[in-house]
Amino acid sequence: MGKNILITGGAGFIGSHVVRLMVTKYPQYQIFNLDALTYAGNLENLKDIEKAANYHFLKANILEADALKAIFEKHAITDVIHLAAESHVDRSIVSPLDFVYTNVIGTVNLLNTAKEFWKGDLSYEKAHDGSWEKNRNHIFYHISTDEVYGSLGKEGLFKETTAYDPNSPYSASKAASDHFVRAYGETYHLPYVVSNCSNNYGPNHFPEKLIPLFIHNIINKKALPVYGDGLYTRDWLYVIDHARAIDIIFHQGKNGDTYNIGGFNEWTNIDLVKLMCAQMDVKLGRAVGESESLITYVKDRPGHDRRYAIDATKLNKELGWSPSVTFEQGLAATIDWYLNNGPWLENVTSGSYQTYYSSMYTNR
Ligand code: NAD
Ligand code: TYD
Repeated sequence: MGKNILITGGAGFIGSHVVRLMVTKYPQYQIFNLDALTYAGNLENLKDIEKAANYHFLKANILEADALKAIFEKHAITDVIHLAAESHVDRSIVSPLDFVYTNVIGTVNLLNTAKEFWKGDLSYEKAHDGSWEKNRNHIFYHISTDEVYGSLGKEGLFKETTAYDPNSPYSASKAASDHFVRAYGETYHLPYVVSNCSNNYGPNHFPEKLIPLFIHNIINKKALPVYGDGLYTRDWLYVIDHARAIDIIFHQGKNGDTYNIGGFNEWTNIDLVKLMCAQMDVKLGRAVGESESLITYVKDRPGHDRRYAIDATKLNKELGWSPSVTFEQGLAATIDWYLNNGPWLENVTSGSYQTYYSSMYTNR
């Protein structure tokens, strides 16, 4: 069946992989990529598919309600996959309001638009099992993060039932937007699904997050600023496996349900950085240990969450998803991509990029 799918944030890191997958796998769908092209949005990420007959780019901001209404009407939008967001924790510490605007108000704008545009199609009676499954002819799919659950101690994993406990302005804004999505489901019967994913890595990642920043710095023999004691733990997933999960949840996820996405792949930051250094020494033909000598311990991030780890059992058991690559394969492919895409890296790191955080993390 044909669909007119609005994907927001499609010019960004994860969004570009989702757009590519949907455009190439489903020629029967029209894919509308709505993106404001902030510092993190880059149409170069989609060069290979920009001429596809079912791909359409719309430059717009989710803060502009009138523009959203016009887009829904003009293109008869049937479904939304919402990724547009401010996504970097460090930026959220410097400018929390930007995160409230885009992540909270922008999401509510989109919810309002979808609710108004689809209202004639929505049933106001729950099915026997208490779900709104009948309204599944549309879906508002919110892409969220495991950071809404807060920080774990040494043991345990985040489950879909874990209570929200966000610590950073970024995670607080994503938690708020998740709550609004659920509220629109309960109050207005808007059909929705939410997924909360662990840290992604892969091609097209703006070099301000740990993995792409450190690849960029190793290439350029610049310091590798490890926050605090370096023993913070993250659970890493290859971005293409996240896009595959989004495809499955979009098509098969239950209306009103939540799915955690992760690859059971925990690394302390320092172990991960040492692995990257070792792989890059080989690829760059450098002496063993040369890149590791760039590691510099710096002042810790305020409110730094100690450990994230996802339990993705529900997604695996109910919808049959599991990661397609190992971490070693994904990391090697990611490093190769950055080494082979020098102009992309050069382009996104020119201008104001280099000075943005210069005063925030100095040597301790
Ligand atoms: P990103 O920062 O790379 O991309 C965000 C995109 O949104 C950019 O293209 C940007 O131009 C666009 N955008 C920002 N503000 C906008 C606005 N007001 N209107 C329209 N477009 C706007 O982010 P990402 O890492 O690809 O993350 C995408 C989504 O996935 C986010 O919602 C994020 O919270 C979530 N997520 C990210 C990760 C991760 O590890 N990166 C993990 C889990 C969930
Ligand atoms: P990041 O990639 O910003 O993702 P998030 O904070 O959303 O998990 O950071 C991943 C981990 O790496 C986190 O513990 C913070 C740490 N980190 C550093 O030690 N140095 C850096 O320069 C960056 C960007 C992150």
